[in-house]
Amino acid sequence: MGKLFERFPDPLARLLVVFLALVVVGLVVVFGLIPKSMMDVNAQWADAVKREEARPIKYAGFHACAECHEELYATKKKGYHRDLSCETCHGPAKAHTEDSDNVKPVIPAARTFCPQCHAYNPSRPRGFPQINPVAHNPLKPCASCHNPHDPKPPTTPKECSACHGEIARMKAVSHHVQLECTTCHDAPQRHKVSPRSVRPSKPGTREFCGKCHGKDATDKRAKNAPKIDLAEHGEKYVCWQCHYPHSPEVEQ
Ligand code: HEC
Ligand code: HEC
Ligand code: HEC
Ligand code: HEC
Ligand code: HEC
Ligand code: HEC
Ligand code: HEC
Ligand code: HEC
Repeated sequence: MGKLFERFPDPLARLLVVFLALVVVGLVVVFGLIPKSMMDVNAQWADAVKREEARPIKYAGFHACAECHEELYATKKKGYHRDLSCETCHGPAKAHTEDSDNVKPVIPAARTFCPQCHAYNPSRPRGFPQINPVAHNPLKPCASCHNPHDPKPPTTPKECSACHGEIARMKAVSHHVQLECTTCHDAPQRHKVSPRSVRPSKPGTREFCGKCHGKDATDKRAKNAPKIDLAEHGEKYVCWQCHYPHSPEVEQ
């Protein structure tokens, strides 16, 4: 190397030699050593396609399930889960479509599965059906109450007895059997949807019961009601201090 530089005493010429040497090395690397496929975009794409094609196919797509699970396919298509692919819940099932006797897809039975989409989360779209998985009917699997292939939105119970069964059954065999719950309670429709935040009224005074039981009661439903003297009977206490309003039996 030293000898080489002795032949070029001029520093500028030495620099030129080094520069030329670098150019030669660069050309060798670019055209000789780097494989063509690393520089040619078209070749890279072709390689990528080959690589992806070589992978085993895992998902069949949900139209593939229709062939053998016609009924389930049709049911799901009409329901609230219509936009979910079968394999969203059952996992990749290509192998199952090819050998349904020996390869079974997963069945997501755990209670942790559905809350991935249905647990409360403020980032979900407004109005999306959500529940608190800890408090919402714990212990039982979700599918024991909801058909995963055709979930239905909750229906509002029509009768008070749907939730107040004990009271309704008690009243049914009492002297107040003819009275509707709403004779004594103003129950807004919303109470049936959000019972704890919207509450019905409850009678608050002796005069309320007096409408039917007072000596000179005028209510048309008071005809058969036994009468008491409101000023004297039971002193100043509210009536339900002594009479349970849902079963006001008087022992003879
Ligand atoms: C070639 C017919 C065929 C195709 C296509 C097919 N299945 Fe099945 N599948 C079956 C048969 C047969 C059974 C067993 C039926 C039984 O046990 O009652 C089955 C059972 C299942 C089960 C229950 C497994 C178990 O452990 O009980 C699931 C879940 C299932 N299939 C999902 C799918 C999904 C998802 C697809 C679409 C990706 C699909 N199948 C496509 C034939 C098919
Ligand atoms: C929301 C999730 C979900 C989707 C979407 C879904 N499944 Fe299911 N699937 C379940 C669950 C959970 C069970 C277990 C039900 C049970 O335990 O009663 C099940 C059970 C099954 C079974 C076996 C028992 C049965 O009911 O016959 C088959 C077969 C099946 N699914 C096929 C399908 C096919 C085909 C599709 C698409 C058309 C599909 N599933 C879509 C969650 C799902
Ligand atoms: C014991 C039966 C039962 C079980 C188990 C159950 N649910 Fe429900 N679910 C109901 C009833 C009844 C309603 C409607 C009344 C209500 O809102 O509480 C409902 C309502 C829902 C709603 C609709 C809420 C709305 O505001 O629109 C979703 C979503 C739901 N459940 C998901 C689940 C999931 C997920 C699981 C499992 C972690 C589950 N449920 C377990 C009975 C059940
Ligand atoms: C990948 C997300 C996803 C999974 C997993 C899922 N769901 Fe859903 N669920 C939805 C979507 C989307 C809707 C339709 C919501 C709408 O129409 O507003 C829905 C609707 C429902 C409804 C109707 C409630 C209503 O008030 O409209 C119920 C009940 C329900 N799902 C229960 C379940 C159960 C039980 C499981 C588990 C077996 C489950 N879901 C798994 C996405 C999911
Ligand atoms: C979906 C279930 C449901 C239905 C349907 C329902 N209730 Fe209730 N109701 C409740 C629950 C739960 C409470 C208890 C709230 C609490 O104690 O936090 C309640 C409380 C009440 C109370 C007591 C309010 C208070 O402040 O103490 C009255 C009165 C009542 N309900 C009357 C009715 C009448 C009348 C109807 C029919 C028109 C009715 N409810 C229908 C669930 C229901
Ligand atoms: C004759 C009037 C009357 C009728 C009819 C009546 N209630 Fe009441 N209810 C009352 C009174 C009064 C109270 C308040 C009792 C108290 O504060 O101790 C009450 C209290 C309640 C409460 C609060 C919890 C409790 O047991 O004290 C509920 C829930 C309730 N009623 C539901 C109903 C339902 C459901 C029906 C129909 C099946 C019904 N009521 C019919 C008068 C009535
Ligand atoms: C809309 C009218 C009406 C209202 C309001 C009413 N009741 Fe009655 N009640 C009756 C009628 C009618 C009977 C008798 C039914 C029968 O035995 O045929 C009766 C019977 C009774 C009895 C007699 C039971 C027996 O063994 O003879 C008692 C006690 C009673 N009610 C208490 C109350 C109390 C307390 C209230 C207020 C919370 C109340 N009632 C509100 C109509 C009413
Ligand atoms: C301190 C307890 C007490 C209070 C408060 C009370 N009662 Fe009574 N009530 C009784 C007893 C005890 C009887 C049965 C003995 C009797 O007839 O005096 C009775 C009987 C009745 C009877 C049946 C009368 C008959 O002839 O069969 C009615 C109706 C009645 N009460 C309504 C009311 C009403 C309405 C109120 C509120 C204004 C009320 N009670 C408040 C204790 C009470």
